[in-house]
Amino acid sequence: MARKLAAGNWKMNGLRASLAEARALADMFPAPTVGVLLCPPATLIAPMADILKGSKVRIGGQDCHAKPSGAHTGDISAAALVDAGADYVILGHSERRADHGETDHTVAEKTLAAFMAGLAPVVCVGETLAQREGGETLDVIRHQLAGSLPDACDLDTLVIAYEPVWAIGTGKVPTLDQIAEVHNDMRATLIARFGTGAEAIPLLYGGSVKPSNAAEIFATSNVDGALVGGASLKAADFAGIVSAL
Ligand code: G3H
Repeated sequence: MARKLAAGNWKMNGLRASLAEARALADMFPAPTVGVLLCPPATLIAPMADILKGSKVRIGGQDCHAKPSGAHTGDISAAALVDAGADYVILGHSERRADHGETDHTVAEKTLAAFMAGLAPVVCVGETLAQREGGETLDVIRHQLAGSLPDACDLDTLVIAYEPVWAIGTGKVPTLDQIAEVHNDMRATLIARFGTGAEAIPLLYGGSVKPSNAAEIFATSNVDGALVGGASLKAADFAGIVSAL
């Protein structure tokens, strides 16, 4: 897995016509020096894999079930994501935690399922505005990391994304000092739990990343890339972020 990673989360956006943006992005980076990842809605994973054949752009899902298969209507297994062409899966995004009541425990189970299926999990953590204003940020992040990661973590494929909930889709971004404080603390927390192997885990920042602010965010301590929402939908915008990494 690439240590430097620009990941695009299309969320519930994009139809088949949007696949042209994925192809355009791949054409702009035939030999990227950093990891480039697109996570479209589940229905677009297989056609995206077709359209990106031969490119270095990787594909991910946005969620998976903790169980390998079974009676879980509307859910998708980690194995099905692999079968469709995914290498990664986003887990524990704050929108999943809010919309579907996902807990740290659920996220840990899904993370384990992802490892078992051979997917690289991008595990998301982040504080709300109230928690930030209450001075609880580091405690919240430590707690989420502790609960959302299983003990049996594959440190070679694990990716963590710090996404302050109040920065997602709002145009508000923490100061660079605030990002550094959280990322440095996450690194220390991960090393304390998993040992020195955790020094190489990619730590992504997410929340209103744009081409205009990407470079300064990427220059921040322990920031290894970004998890990008809105600005990943258009190849030209996402390319600006990839180029800054
Ligand atoms: O997964 C991506 C994040 O939620 C960030 O979204 O770049 O639209 O703020 P955003």
